[in-house]
Amino acid sequence: MRHLIAVRRILPVAATLLLTTVFSSAQFVGNNPEAVEKRVDELVSKMTLDEKIELIGGDTPFRTHPITRLNIPYFQMADGPVGAHIPAPTIAYAAGIGLAASWDRALALRIGQQLGRDSPSRGAAFILGPGVNIYRAPMNGRNFEYFGEDPFLASAIAVGYIRGVQQEGVSATVKHYLGNNSEYLRHDSDSIIDERALREIYMPVFEAAVKTAKVGAIMDSYNITNGEHMTRNKPLNVTVAKEQWHFPGVIMSDWVSTYDTAGTANGGLDLEMPFAVYYAPEKMLPLIKDGTISQATLDDKVRRILRVAADFGWLDRPQLDIDIPRYNLEGRAASLQAAEEGAVLLKNENGALPLDKKAIKTIAVIGPTATQTVTTGGGSGEVVSFANTNLLVGISNYLGEQTKVLYARGLYSINQMARLTHFTTDADGKTPGVTHTIFAKANLEGDVTGTVVETTLSTAASTRREPEEQELNALTAHKTASPYVRATNSSKWVGYYTPAEAGKYSIFIQTDGKYRLLVDDAVVFDSSVVPKYILNQATIELTKTPHKVVLEQLSQQIGSVSGMRVGIAPLSTIVEKDALAMAAKADVVVLAVGFNAASESEGGDRSFELPVGQEQLIDQIAALGKKTVVMITSGGSVDLSNWKDKVQGIFETWYSGEEGGTSAARLLFGEENPSGHLPISWEKKITDNPSYNNYYPDPGTNKIVYREGIFVGYRGYEHNHVEPLYPFGYGLSYTTFSFSKLKSSPEGDGHFTVTFDVTNTGKRAGATVAQLYVGQGSPVVERPAKELKGFERVMLQPGETKHVTLSLDPRSFSYFDVNSSSWQATAGSYDLFLGDSSQNIQQKTTVQLTKALTTSISQ
Ligand code: BGC
Repeated sequence: MRHLIAVRRILPVAATLLLTTVFSSAQFVGNNPEAVEKRVDELVSKMTLDEKIELIGGDTPFRTHPITRLNIPYFQMADGPVGAHIPAPTIAYAAGIGLAASWDRALALRIGQQLGRDSPSRGAAFILGPGVNIYRAPMNGRNFEYFGEDPFLASAIAVGYIRGVQQEGVSATVKHYLGNNSEYLRHDSDSIIDERALREIYMPVFEAAVKTAKVGAIMDSYNITNGEHMTRNKPLNVTVAKEQWHFPGVIMSDWVSTYDTAGTANGGLDLEMPFAVYYAPEKMLPLIKDGTISQATLDDKVRRILRVAADFGWLDRPQLDIDIPRYNLEGRAASLQAAEEGAVLLKNENGALPLDKKAIKTIAVIGPTATQTVTTGGGSGEVVSFANTNLLVGISNYLGEQTKVLYARGLYSINQMARLTHFTTDADGKTPGVTHTIFAKANLEGDVTGTVVETTLSTAASTRREPEEQELNALTAHKTASPYVRATNSSKWVGYYTPAEAGKYSIFIQTDGKYRLLVDDAVVFDSSVVPKYILNQATIELTKTPHKVVLEQLSQQIGSVSGMRVGIAPLSTIVEKDALAMAAKADVVVLAVGFNAASESEGGDRSFELPVGQEQLIDQIAALGKKTVVMITSGGSVDLSNWKDKVQGIFETWYSGEEGGTSAARLLFGEENPSGHLPISWEKKITDNPSYNNYYPDPGTNKIVYREGIFVGYRGYEHNHVEPLYPFGYGLSYTTFSFSKLKSSPEGDGHFTVTFDVTNTGKRAGATVAQLYVGQGSPVVERPAKELKGFERVMLQPGETKHVTLSLDPRSFSYFDVNSSSWQATAGSYDLFLGDSSQNIQQKTTVQLTKALTTSISQ
């Protein structure tokens, strides 16, 4: 049990806890730290015990309590991470994973600045972003918010984002600390991560946020890590973040992620959000009085909140700036840049792309994500914008009146398919309806509290209200929902389905609770222990006779999917005939597939396969023999194995923000040259993913044991000798590039300057990403074959060459040594690999470390 050793090693340091650490250097935005500390001291000395307690618990909606007597205002928060929302609408930028795919530090800074400008337009002092949890596997429902699988790339993007936000006088909130790499059962799962993997893979982005970007706030995640809920995880909050990294800011809880008072207060949580449950005066006071929570501990929390406020200037100016236009073209331009730079061209068979505007008379834009708002995935990160350009609109606007743009959705929506599924209550297939029995307790236990016949096997989605109203309702609802309690009742649904024809059918369920779904008494989906995907699907063979369908809804939904629905759709007719007819008339088909806010979302995970019917849609359209280009909307890789070879072009556009359609049109027609590179490895099949065997909790436990250790993403593929479909760092362009003249020169003490040339060898202007990896031939401990330690996005005109300089430092060569609790780079030779992906290495050289180097964890 490596993780236990890890926790023990961290713990002794915790015993020497210093709660009132003195922070000597400039803290967040560089104000005079002595003056800030003095001001904080003065305020703290004037506060009563009640006022102190009041300050460390939030107030609905999304703010801290004001202490009016001392002129301390409330500090408002805006949700993030890619739109300063609450309330919406606001400018929606491309999702985090797309920003990472740009590999553009300057763009990350620009997006941060926009968010830092949008936040005060809503009165917000904190923005709840960036989200920086490492991508382990495509199933994580929140991957779209995060920056991919590599800590070096993710750190660079996070640092740009945070600096940009904080330059505008707004505090970023780096989240979700720590081990929150999946969404199902997020309050209960225990991420068991050994210390080396924590230090080398999961912590560096948070560490860079604290040490390099001077982030003002950290948000603790819902989950348990190494045996302790994060909001009460003293080794990680206090020892690591506050002591080893000298974090001087606020650690706040995720929304309703606290589970007790004493453990949380002593475990390093400064601010309970969205409002005080366990930090409520009646719970805090007795524990302060009896010494369980010391006065110094309370004061430290108060000081941290006031330190951030004083340093960012929130005590001296109103946080709402009504002079800032909430809708603005500068934001839209930044959003467009992020969408364009983030899109990754995965396949371009025989130069099928870019499309030639003049040669196309008719284009068909088909698919479920062509007109839907796919600015972001779902949950708190979902951003509602003022104006959206979807794919159809983007292509139509771009082509103008000379070209005919035909559109069909191609498939019914999940909701429609469920509503069109005709169930009967009787096995004879005569009486329409489904029998719904409600039990007082979970797991179909307790008294039956009601039996009703419903027309469909679904519960209604709440109707979509105005964005402002919708969000504010969600916020105030927290008041009644908190503290975190599991809903107690359960339901059983029984209906009969009689197919029109014998054949293959897709059966699906969209929900995020625990359940089992049976057809003719055989289990089709078992999510009774771990509710795996929020949209689950399977193909079944049905005869033309009534089939009994039973849904056991064992516990209520956790909240990310609106409503619940079950449907059955015949695969032979699942694709709309009109869509096929339109495609047959077109010169080119652009197919829009992927996920949306209801199938990929916070609070649940998603499947690797595309949602119901989409593979059939691609298959049947591709079979028409037209040039077919697929645009994927998703937060990570999807299963391409059944259709990749049947289409000519594939773009991964992620969730591309409000300018996604304009961006897609410009990329498809070559106005813009694709330059995004994957921030993840894309697997051929899901079982190839290095974390596949440990992504879910070990059977019968809540423990997700990260057995792949440091071998996450490309580190794992190389270690396991498994070829990904598309490697980390991969991305095509409409031009070609070459790398040459790789050289390194030692600068002393483990520092090196690395130089090389990048040339655009093709005929179009474009950008590539030069990636520098470091590997150690014969390490003393097991290490990845190579690891990203430098990169540069380089924009070049045709024929142009640019000289690039990167630097390496001792951390570039180091592994984390758990015995000495420090970073170690052993003496000897290291290989440097230069290429445009982790696999396409074009230049190699070696450097020598003449002596071993140690870097401390605090450095
Ligand atoms: C999410 C956070 C978010 C918060 C406020 C939580 O459910 O996990 O990322 O910032 O809600 O909306």
